[in-house]
Amino acid sequence: MNSIKKDLFVMSHIKKSDFPNDFIWGTATAAYQIEGAWDKDGKGESIWDRFCHEEGNILNNDTGDIACDHYHRWEEDLDLLKKYNIENYRLSIAWARIYPKGTGEINPAGVDFYNNLIDGMIERGITPWITIYHWDLPQALQDRGGWTNREIVNWFKDYTATLIKLFGDRVKNWMIYNEPSVQAWLGYGLGFNAPGLKGEENYLKALHHINLSIAEGYRVAKAMLPDGYIGSSYTLVPTPPESDADRDVADNMFGFWNTNHFDPLFKGEYPKAIREQISQYMKDGDHELIKVDLDFVGIQHYSTIYAKMDNKNGLFGTFFGKPPADVKLTDIGWEINGSYFGDIISWFSDNYNLKQKNQDIIITENGAAFFDELNESGECDDQHRIDYLEEYLLSVKNCIDNNIPLKGYFIWSLLDNFEWAEGYKMRFGLVHVDYKSLVRTPKKSIKWFKGFLE
Ligand code: FCB
Repeated sequence: MNSIKKDLFVMSHIKKSDFPNDFIWGTATAAYQIEGAWDKDGKGESIWDRFCHEEGNILNNDTGDIACDHYHRWEEDLDLLKKYNIENYRLSIAWARIYPKGTGEINPAGVDFYNNLIDGMIERGITPWITIYHWDLPQALQDRGGWTNREIVNWFKDYTATLIKLFGDRVKNWMIYNEPSVQAWLGYGLGFNAPGLKGEENYLKALHHINLSIAEGYRVAKAMLPDGYIGSSYTLVPTPPESDADRDVADNMFGFWNTNHFDPLFKGEYPKAIREQISQYMKDGDHELIKVDLDFVGIQHYSTIYAKMDNKNGLFGTFFGKPPADVKLTDIGWEINGSYFGDIISWFSDNYNLKQKNQDIIITENGAAFFDELNESGECDDQHRIDYLEEYLLSVKNCIDNNIPLKGYFIWSLLDNFEWAEGYKMRFGLVHVDYKSLVRTPKKSIKWFKGFLE
């Protein structure tokens, strides 16, 4: 689409009626980022609890100990969803609240919490979308190697089966795993995220065991819940080189974020760049196991990520580069460019024949961080977030017009929350949270979203 047409479109404001009637609209959160109550009512320690409690890992040494205190304030948060007409809500379950040690004894208080939450959603007419794993592995399993230990495929299958058994009567929409790329690369390759492990061997093992767990987790869930709508969520990221000198590593970067996960999922093989190295951690039959037909593929996108050659800090000589000086950035430093979003979705659809396969795709996360503050009248005018969302929604609409089977869109996030290694400085919410008083203040963007949904 040429830029004149695009600008005219943004000026006329994108509307819900520009999308199919049955398009799914929602907002998303994740357990560790909002719940708090990290050791309450029998919950076990997770790798994020451990990682945050070690000094120096997180900006300002913030932790998720209290976060948004959603564990105690969930009714208020569900009321917000209802008040603003948000009919679909994506949340994740904390594995260590269900199984404090990862396997074995179930913690009844953890089950009660999620039962109440799910029932509370249904009472308010909100449809639950549950992510089974959003990075908060029980520490007890990390002590046995975590994602580097192939046994985890069995632990994960058991945990998945338990959730489907407990909640599958009321919850039909499931995402098996959140952003395996971030878990494998940042958690086990570079050590920026929990559990803070580094190196190529850790990365490759984690990568393969995660890919196996997603496919096997899907099979377990689908067999138990044939009428379920079961997918898994992935990052989708363009990764151009920072400069000409970095061209050689841009493919590695593309692998970390995209193809090291999608090639196994759709083709049952790893990209050439890692095929030989990863084969030492594979068993006969694994190629068949890592390939699976999900009911939907969840796509999450925030920004372009530039690749830089760096043998000291990087993995396979590849590290984060900087965006060009003249691009628009959010306050977290992520590039704003809605048309790149459309381009990468088109690449994804073409490369894996998703139109022909009629493979459902749902945008399970997209959003922007700004240093939002309340003004003197106690309001938060986050017009920048509205502009971002309109720009990205335009790309989603263009993809649909192009027959790409996109079925829904979830904004990250309902609430300002704990943004992993970036702590609380980065605010992604449609609702402002004062982390001292824990008071919630709806921002202008959630009012905009309500109007959009009407
Ligand atoms: C994604 C994560 C989500 C949130 C956003 C900003 O990578 O899935 O938890 O932190 O980024």
